[in-house]
Amino acid sequence: MLQTAEARGALPLTGERYGNYELVRLLATGGMAEVFLARQRGFEGFEKHVVVKRIRPNLAKEPELVRMFINEARVVARLNHPNIVQIYNLGAQGKTYFIAMEYVEGRDLRSVMRQCFELSLQIPVGVACRIAIEAASALDHAHKRTWANGKPMGIVHRDVTPDNILIADAGTVKLVDFGVAKVKDSGGEETEAGVLKGKYAYMSPEQASGRPIDHRTDVFALGVVLHEMLVGQRLFKRESDMATLRAVQEAEVPAPSSLVKSLPKALDAIVLRALERKASKRFSDALELQVALDRFLVSQQVPSSSSLVAQFLRELAAKKAQGEASASKVSTSKKRSKSQGSSKPPDSKPSKPAPASQRKEDSATRFDRPPAPSGRARSDERALGSGRNVVIKVLLVAWAAALLAMGGWLLLSFREDDSGPTDVEAIRP
Ligand SMILES: Nc1ncnc2c1ncn2[C@@H]1O[C@H](COP(=O)(O)OP(=O)(O)O)[C@@H](O)[C@H]1O
Ligand SMILES: [Mg+2]
Repeated sequence: MLQTAEARGALPLTGERYGNYELVRLLATGGMAEVFLARQRGFEGFEKHVVVKRIRPNLAKEPELVRMFINEARVVARLNHPNIVQIYNLGAQGKTYFIAMEYVEGRDLRSVMRQCFELSLQIPVGVACRIAIEAASALDHAHKRTWANGKPMGIVHRDVTPDNILIADAGTVKLVDFGVAKVKDSGGEETEAGVLKGKYAYMSPEQASGRPIDHRTDVFALGVVLHEMLVGQRLFKRESDMATLRAVQEAEVPAPSSLVKSLPKALDAIVLRALERKASKRFSDALELQVALDRFLVSQQVPSSSSLVAQFLRELAAKKAQGEASASKVSTSKKRSKSQGSSKPPDSKPSKPAPASQRKEDSATRFDRPPAPSGRARSDERALGSGRNVVIKVLLVAWAAALLAMGGWLLLSFREDDSGPTDVEAIRP
């Protein structure tokens, strides 16, 4: 996950070097790679922050992954677009390949969506549309790129998800991670066919069914991201991978305004068209989606710009800092009252509810806990009392547990697996 501005302060060097780059700190571990903030030094005190991405050490010997990694570098090196992270170099340190690229100071969209969910905040329509427009522009560039000999590269990203959409502090969108991109070689041959790659909940129906795909699969995935940004809920994510794949294949999509009444109806048609089950009914390319969103913003006079995105990020950062400050205040005063030997609460005022991040821990733990064995349940019953009281208490506990479990599931659906290692594995339903 990208670091907040505060966390990016003075950091100890790990000392490791990759070519001209000194690793500063680990930024994120993805399914296949580790991503480091690194420093490039030059003459006269020249210094520049870059990102070094390398295959995770335990996977570095897998020939298929090494091939994908090199493929990513080759593909991205041919792209030149303000909304695609720029690549500087593909190098090797010992037996480990690494990619050096532009450092995006900001956050990934997934962490933004999760924070909004935890704070029950809606991403403003103009902000969600701006993010989708810039991501669409990046995709359209990639889809239409050619090799030096003029042959189409046939790029399909195949992994358009909130993790791979970064938002710079300045409010600009940067698409990353062409690690599982499908591409044709300069002779026009597919590099691979029929392999299912990507994250299930953002696949297109044809991708989830193992059928041939083209650039419209990325249009669908971006439609999923847009739907989720607007509605604040996962669209196809279900409790198991199989159920998720089935939901994607069926592609029953509720209109965003049917779930969030305040959303403009004029946006429904655009989102639903991007999410058509049949690729032929979708926007014919990412540019068409981009234009439709632009027209919607103008016709409905919805303000939308990078500076509004940046402002929204700053508001979120301030809310996070506020939450952390009040959480640490509560824990400091608790410690103080303990050290004074008092068993009373620190003051008589009602305490603020714990921040969502803490509530989430509780509910997630309860959700994961297996049901107690019947012998233990019986002894618990004895401990609770007897007769009608017991029944009432048991019902109350069950009701509370069900509520917590539901809350846990909802929160987990924004946290869990989508960045997990299995997501980039080739699978078949
Ligand atoms: N150029 C970059 N600048 C800042 N953070 C990045 C950059 N590239 C990747 N990241 C962070 O690292 C994470 C994993 O990188 P990614 O390229 O998606 O690897 P993986 O293939 O393992 O998913 C991203 O989700 C993002 O949070
Ligand atoms: Mg990724």
